[in-house]
Amino acid sequence: MQAFIDNIPKAELHVHLEGTLEPELSFALAKKNGIPLPYKTPEALVEAYDFTDLPSFLEIYYAGMNVLVAESDFYDLTMAYLTKASNQNIVYAELFFDPQAHTSRGIDFSIVINGIHKAQVDAEQKLGIKSQLIMCFLRELSAESAMEHLSMAEPYLSYLVGVGLDSNERDNPPIKFKQVFKKARELGLKLTMHCDVNQKNTLTHIGQCLDDIKVDRIDHGVNSLEDASLVAKLRDSKIGLTVCPVSNRFVVQSLTAKEIRTMLDEQIMVTINSDDPAYFRAYLNENFIELQKEGDFDKQDLQTLVENSFRIAWLPETEKQQYLSSIRDYVVTSS
Ligand code: HPA
Ligand code: ZN
Repeated sequence: MQAFIDNIPKAELHVHLEGTLEPELSFALAKKNGIPLPYKTPEALVEAYDFTDLPSFLEIYYAGMNVLVAESDFYDLTMAYLTKASNQNIVYAELFFDPQAHTSRGIDFSIVINGIHKAQVDAEQKLGIKSQLIMCFLRELSAESAMEHLSMAEPYLSYLVGVGLDSNERDNPPIKFKQVFKKARELGLKLTMHCDVNQKNTLTHIGQCLDDIKVDRIDHGVNSLEDASLVAKLRDSKIGLTVCPVSNRFVVQSLTAKEIRTMLDEQIMVTINSDDPAYFRAYLNENFIELQKEGDFDKQDLQTLVENSFRIAWLPETEKQQYLSSIRDYVVTSS
């Protein structure tokens, strides 16, 4: 099973670039940029990772970003993830970034997006891994701030495939950003939003994503199973869920294997992703391997999960079909 998971060509659709910042790179950048870190070693930094819910994670996640200053820092961050992903046989990735977490520290939007974009171009050329970029808005900040950042992104529209919504969900419903997402849609961008596991008013939030915002995808969205009408809508619309098992385990003490099994049975387009792999200490293959054990998934289940990622990817149909056919070839030759 481990070899099957390691080697099957995969896509990742829910990974925050800032959540891929490994402690070693963090230390190197801190030294280069003259930024003091409150830890003596990368190992001590990892030991301080102590999250039990979304707010406790976000506090550590934002503190970690202070070492990202220059364009080359964003390049190095992105290249490190894409190299790791390529080594895990990820052939296509859609990457989240959080510009407001950088502009709020005085870092220019252009520095962030240019550093990321240059690494994406180089990684595709040198490693053959294709990626596209999704700009996320921080939902605890105002809709005006999100709109300002959408305007900042307009000169770089060709660098973006979509917009997302992340960070602290409590009392920050999707509807707060209705106008921003309407504008993003008009600009030709795809739409996704986080509905993190076990959040207050989660079923209302998932409903708003589907009915008011009309998203193309939902990030997490596991609680949708609690409402038969949401299940039916997800199945009929083929709107995908990007589920992150190891990330969820910090909140619900399970990899949600049972819920993922139910989603497969209900024909919901469920996919597996790593979310913030440097913080949760698990990249995509580790998510699949742990999940397989907890849920006793067979190769056919795993193949469906991997194929779903390409089916709901924001790619032209012909490219999706090429990836899907490479998966079928892999399965035939590996069995
Ligand atoms: N949820 C909300 N905000 C985030 C996440 C997440 O999983 N990761 C990084 N920012
Ligand atoms: Zn996320």
